[in-house]
Amino acid sequence: MSRSLSKSNAHFRRALTRLPLGVSSNFRYWGEDKTLYVASAKGARLRDIDDNEYIDYRMAYGPCILGYADPRVDAAARAGMEVGGVFALSTEREYAVADRIARMVPAAELVRYSNSGTEAVMAALRLARAYTGRDSYVVIEGGYHGVFDAALWYTPIEEWRPVEGEPHLVPYSAGVPGILRGLLHAVPMNDADRLESVFKAYGHEIAAFLIEPIMGNCCSISATREFLRDARELCTRHGIVMIIDEVKTGFRVARGGVQELMDVKGDLCTFAKAMGNGYPIAVLAGREAIMRRIGDDVVHGGTFTCHSVPLAAAEKTLEILDETPALETIARYGTRLRAGMSQILSQRGIRHSFSGHPSMSGLFFSEQPPSNYRDWARSDYTFYEALAPELHDLGVLCEPDSREPWFICEAHDDRCLAETLERFETAVDRVVGKQRAATRAAN
Ligand SMILES: Cc1ncc(COP(=O)(O)O)c(C=O)c1O
Repeated sequence: MSRSLSKSNAHFRRALTRLPLGVSSNFRYWGEDKTLYVASAKGARLRDIDDNEYIDYRMAYGPCILGYADPRVDAAARAGMEVGGVFALSTEREYAVADRIARMVPAAELVRYSNSGTEAVMAALRLARAYTGRDSYVVIEGGYHGVFDAALWYTPIEEWRPVEGEPHLVPYSAGVPGILRGLLHAVPMNDADRLESVFKAYGHEIAAFLIEPIMGNCCSISATREFLRDARELCTRHGIVMIIDEVKTGFRVARGGVQELMDVKGDLCTFAKAMGNGYPIAVLAGREAIMRRIGDDVVHGGTFTCHSVPLAAAEKTLEILDETPALETIARYGTRLRAGMSQILSQRGIRHSFSGHPSMSGLFFSEQPPSNYRDWARSDYTFYEALAPELHDLGVLCEPDSREPWFICEAHDDRCLAETLERFETAVDRVVGKQRAATRAAN
């Protein structure tokens, strides 16, 4: 270890006495001696309580698209504070932001706000059920849509053996009622035949097809345009609501999100992370005919919905993303980062590829990126798992789990890039060196 985490480790032991796992989200627990506690963050850099500085590529799992503590957004948030918080009443700004979103995302004819991605997707599913009068839904294997019971199902692909048939779908948490399993179907990404056969067999029961076309929790595995076109056509044919979950891709991969990037239009779509540059706000949006059911016979609300601070932050963030070249800057950095990493890996004969969009790249150790989660299981993700801790030690923060992409923000600059690539090269050499030593020892 080249960095000390003594303060973080001591704090972890103290935190454990009051907080399960010593943290406030299971995903923030990285182990007894590796869990980090943040002192502060600014731009693309984050400092832990041991005073280690990192160039951050997690960016809070995507929200901080302009960088931490962006002065433009924070000034707007402070002005939002003056408005007064929450009132159990609406403000004029809600319309202004909704109007901006509708202009950026053509599918977002009407908009309803929530506080988190989970809430927005949960509401989308309820609305789809109300609209269709059906209860079942279809998801993509490996997808993640938040922490509500209907979404907390996963495919344990590491344990799957193709000879045993189709992979299982199991609850991601204890406490998720097993009875919900009967409502859920999962299909591999990019398999239109499979989707069609599920729709043909169960279409009369299926309310929604829920898809994140670039899977931001699964190595940025991406749908092809052809698959999305087929899925769109199948949903229309079977009267199934297509919900495009843009919680990660929204206002990131293009101004109009993945729907613009891949030329597809959902019936409903959900947004959260990047829209407030880290302030908690989310959106359910979609076709007027469906969205008008809210308030007709569908309930949606929440005490903290559209708090004046995150709403003001969202107004400023969206203005910047819409009216400045921020997204082009981000994509350019992501492309240069990929090229630099690629050069380092190729020079050492290490097979690799990238998936997703340059603003949220999956780094994959095989010649071709995976086209579905089953492919991911066949790749050498152990190299990534060895690489990530070395990068952390050298001051580059990526997710320890290879399924989380590298998120770029507008504040990643030339100095970040040069430092990242230098450290990446050192980390790769360390892993290769350790692997060679292990092979020698084994022989
Ligand atoms: C695609 C997707 N949908 C939904 C969610 C849930 O959002 P939140 O964590 O804001 O509840 C996430 C979170 O990572 C996500 O990536």
